[in-house]
Amino acid sequence: MPVLPIMRHGEPCLKKVSLPVDFATFKKRDIAKLLKNMWSTMYAAKGVGLAAPQIGLNLRLAVIDVRPDGKRQKLVLANPEIISREGDLHEEEGCLSIPGLYAKLTRSAKVTIRAFDEKGEPYEMTGTDLLARAFQHEIDHLDGKLFVDRLDFPEKMKAMQAIRELKKSWI
Ligand code: NI
Repeated sequence: MPVLPIMRHGEPCLKKVSLPVDFATFKKRDIAKLLKNMWSTMYAAKGVGLAAPQIGLNLRLAVIDVRPDGKRQKLVLANPEIISREGDLHEEEGCLSIPGLYAKLTRSAKVTIRAFDEKGEPYEMTGTDLLARAFQHEIDHLDGKLFVDRLDFPEKMKAMQAIRELKKSWI
């Protein structure tokens, strides 16, 4: 399975608002192929989520596997929306597009999403803790936002400094 290059901080595709997946025109076979590549890329990078913009495709599509109880739970999120949220959780977060950077960030502790699966079937799902965080993180990618964009001003300044240093080792 091909492992695709992951776009890193600074790439314009990570800053764009992505377009919805149109199941009427997008062939099922092409979606399946794209998802296979996203899964292999995510697992190879040891991530728990990957959004299409991270492989240079500005489509509202993401995959998540937070491995609850150590087992795989492959979730496909096409055109996802958050329909409710509850509570706050201040935890460390990272991103495959900013390898090496982790920062604590407050996210909703419990989130319900509405999305479509790989067949274009709608579903709703509630996630807590890491899954809730992954939902919010991946949906942010589809809106052109990275987790560092959500940090408080002093934290963001620190993160930007760290990213400048990290970028030297990326090239
Ligand atoms: Ni990310």
